[in-house]
Amino acid sequence: MVIFTKNELETINLGYTLGMLLECPSTILLEGDLGAGKTTFTKGIGKALNVEKTINSPTFTIMKCYKGKYPLYHLDLYRLDGVNQEFDLEEYIDSGIAVIEWPHQADELLPKEYLRIIITINDDVRKFEFIPVGEKYEKLLEVFKNE
Ligand SMILES: Nc1ncnc2c1ncn2[C@@H]1O[C@H](COP(=O)(O)OP(=O)(O)O)[C@@H](O)[C@H]1O
Ligand SMILES: [Mg+2]
Repeated sequence: MVIFTKNELETINLGYTLGMLLECPSTILLEGDLGAGKTTFTKGIGKALNVEKTINSPTFTIMKCYKGKYPLYHLDLYRLDGVNQEFDLEEYIDSGIAVIEWPHQADELLPKEYLRIIITINDDVRKFEFIPVGEKYEKLLEVFKNE
């Protein structure tokens, strides 16, 4: 499924629509260049989960956890330099909504099933391509298509 957004607000709204449909636990992989809108999309997910704190880029901390309807683990693996055992991705994935920017930095730790979202930039237009992996995410996408 492909959806285009024209501005930041439309991207937040798209994240919100997805966020409203998420069950706990869920894993969302966000791919796209710097400035694609990964963090903006995550703000929408957070809104749907009733997260009160402002979601901003976790680049310098790798992971930020937000309290909401479910725990939201927002990860940005851009600066992850080699995976070590102290990095407990599995725990985040099993216990909340894990939204992962630059997921391929930790390819070997990713779960088998997830919703993959590839964002591409064309001026202010952003193309969101949704690729479900696993039955749970295929079903989720069917519902999402009808929203
Ligand atoms: N359609 C759009 N959707 C999302 N962000 C957009 C859009 N058009 C322009 N922007 C701008 O692009 C930037 C996206 O930043 P951010 O979400 O932090 O990206 P990333 O996390 O992928 O690096 C913001 O400055 C935002 O205002
Ligand atoms: Mg970001």
